[in-house]
Amino acid sequence: MRERLAIIGAGHVGLVYAACLAELGHDVSVYDIDPERVASLRRGAVPFFEEGLADLVKKNLKAKRLTFSTEPGAALKGATMAFICVPTPSATDGGLDEAPMRRALQTIRQHARGGRPIVVTKSTVSVGMNRYIKELFRDRKVPVVSNPEFLREGSAIHDFFHPHRIVLGSDDKAAMAAVAKLYETIDGPVFTTDPITAELSKLAANAFLALKVSFANSIARVASSSGGDVAATLKILGTDPRIGPGHLRAGLGFGGACLPKDLAAMEHLARRSATPYELFSAVAAVNQDQRQHVMDILQGKLVSLSGRRIAVLGLAFKADTDDVRESPSLALIAELLAAGANVVAHDPVVKLRALGKDAPAAVQRRSALEAANAADAVVIATEWTEYGRLDLPRLRKRMKGDLLVDARGMLDPIVSRKAGFDYVGIGS
Ligand code: UDX
Repeated sequence: MRERLAIIGAGHVGLVYAACLAELGHDVSVYDIDPERVASLRRGAVPFFEEGLADLVKKNLKAKRLTFSTEPGAALKGATMAFICVPTPSATDGGLDEAPMRRALQTIRQHARGGRPIVVTKSTVSVGMNRYIKELFRDRKVPVVSNPEFLREGSAIHDFFHPHRIVLGSDDKAAMAAVAKLYETIDGPVFTTDPITAELSKLAANAFLALKVSFANSIARVASSSGGDVAATLKILGTDPRIGPGHLRAGLGFGGACLPKDLAAMEHLARRSATPYELFSAVAAVNQDQRQHVMDILQGKLVSLSGRRIAVLGLAFKADTDDVRESPSLALIAELLAAGANVVAHDPVVKLRALGKDAPAAVQRRSALEAANAADAVVIATEWTEYGRLDLPRLRKRMKGDLLVDARGMLDPIVSRKAGFDYVGIGS
C-alpha cells in the first residue's frame, strides 16, 4: 500500500531513506530546518557524495513522490509515519547528544492528530529513549517504533535494498506491523522485538565493528614487529566463518559519524549500568594509538617534524565518501601541524575549503603527485583506490625525501622499495 511518509532531517540517513522509500512507491515529504539545503534539494542537488543518491532523488522528485520543505506542517500533514533521522552526536560525557532529537519530537507533537503519525526512530539513540518517547506521546495516543539504520556510507542505497536485517522494536505490535509492511518487497530478515533490544542491537553492532578494526590493528602491530605478514595473517583470520573477513583491515583506525560515537555511547551505557566497560575503552584507546603510531614512525625517521613537508593522501574518513567527520586523516594532520610540519594534502572528493572554519591549516593540491612535490614524506591516510595505482617512480621523483608511510596497506612493499622508497606499511 502506498503510504504518506514524513522524514525529519535531510542528512545522510534521512535522504537515503527518503529517496529509497519514494523509490518503493511511497509519497515521501522531507522536513529540514536548513532553508539552503531544502532549496538545493528541491532542484535535485544532494549536498554530499553518496553513490546513486542524486539520481534517485532526481527521479523521485520528477515522479512527484518526493518533496522537501522547511515547514513541518507541510511535511507532516496526513503522514501515517514520521521517521526521525536527525543527528545524535557525542555529548561531552560520552553519551549521545539528543537535543536535535528532542526538537524533532516537539515538532512532531505539534502536528500529531488522531493517533498519527507513528513515530519511527531511525537515529541512533540512547538505550531507553524510545520508551521515553512513548511516554511523551501517550496523551496523543501515538505509537513509537524503533527502527535503527545500519547503512554504510558509500553503499547506503545498496544497504537499504539488501539489508542484513531489519530491526523493529516497540510495545505496539500493530505499529510494528505497519512499519514492517513498508519493507515487505525487500528481501532481508525482519526482527521484531522490544524497544530496548532494538536500541541495543544498533549500539552493539557498531561497537563490535569498532572492536574488529581495533583487533585487526593490534594483531597487525604484533605481526609486523615479530616479522609476520600482516595482510596474510588477517586474511587467514577472516576465513573462519565465526570471525568473518569484514572490518578486519588494519590501518589508520576507524572514524566517521557512527563507529566512534556509538562505541563511546556503549562505554557510557556500561559505566552507567555499573557493568564492565573496559573492553570498550580499550577499543577506543587502540584506535587513538594508530595515529600516534604513524606520528612515531614519522618522528623516528625524520627526527624532527618542525618545518618538514608532509604530503597526506586522503582526507575522508574512508574511501568513497566526502565525509570527514572524525576522520583519522584530519586528526593526523592536526597532530602534524601541532608538531610544526607543513602539510600538503590531497583527496579526490573532499575539498578543504568547503570545510570552512573546521579546515586544518594545510594546503590542498589537485593530485597526489602535486601534493608530493618536494615532500619529505608521503602518508597514505585514506584507502582511495587511486592511491593503490600511484605511479611510484614519478611520485618518488617529485619528492625531496624518500619516506612513504602506507597507513592503509595500499601498496606492494617490494615494488615500493624498488621505486626508491623507504617504505613503511602499517595496514593491510
Ligand atoms: C558504520 C556501520 O558500518 C554502519 O552499519 C552504520 O549504520 C553506520 O556506521 P560507516 O560509518 O559508513 O558505517 O563506516 P564503516 O564502513 O563501518 O567504516 C568505519 C571506519 O572504519 C572507517 O574509518 C574505515 O576506514 C574503518 N575501517 C573499516 C577500517 O579501518 N578497517 C576495516 O576493515 C573496515
